[in-house]
Amino acid sequence: MRHEIVEKNVGLLSILILVVISFAAMVEIVPLFFAKETTQPVDGLEPLSALELEGRDIYIREGCVGCHSQMIRPFRAETERYGHYSVAGEFVYDHPFLWGSKRTGPDLARVGGRYSDAWHRAHLYNPRDVVPESKMPAYPWLFENTLTGEHTADKMRALQSLGVPYTREQIEGAAVAVRGKQEITALVAYLQQLGTVLKDTR
Ligand code: HEC
Repeated sequence: MRHEIVEKNVGLLSILILVVISFAAMVEIVPLFFAKETTQPVDGLEPLSALELEGRDIYIREGCVGCHSQMIRPFRAETERYGHYSVAGEFVYDHPFLWGSKRTGPDLARVGGRYSDAWHRAHLYNPRDVVPESKMPAYPWLFENTLTGEHTADKMRALQSLGVPYTREQIEGAAVAVRGKQEITALVAYLQQLGTVLKDTR
């Protein structure tokens, strides 16, 4: 009888559905904000340097995330290929996350240190020079464009307000650290640190 009242009253039914879903969501989501594993950085995690941060922005601008994930799942096939699975504490300074979901190319979560800087530069200039069968696009303009460093400190300050522990010295030195550098140098610096904090525990 009471069931019938709910089923015949769309408004009431909608409200009750919302209550149930909100409760279920809260049970799943709220603990994540308090669990140490999801809120604390892993040991040794440092905020990106000014140059690496600019490299990350180039990674975003060029849409690398559209073909590359940065998230190694905890499965044998993944850990054999890429290394230790990704843990939440590696990403607490990442705003926004670049986990991605499309893997046209390999996962890059632990690509840092896998190749030399020279390999990355050649690969990004024209992937087919080093991987003949590659269908990754070439990015030759990264070798022509240089960074001004005009907004680097602002970006670091914005990240600082989200909890990334940049020091005053790092922020004040940001413009000098990147000014005049080629974009490719920044991007490779970013790639070379990816996933290196947890690398040795494999
Ligand atoms: C259209 C899809 C596509 C886009 C966009 C793309 N890639 Fe790739 N990437 C690939 C494919 C496919 C491979 C595998 C073949 C190769 O090594 O070139 C690859 C390989 C790589 C590798 C070597 C990974 C490994 O473990 O061997 C790196 C590093 C890389 N890409 C970086 C980048 C960066 C940085 C960008 C953005 C500037 C980018 N990719 C954009 C498709 C893409």
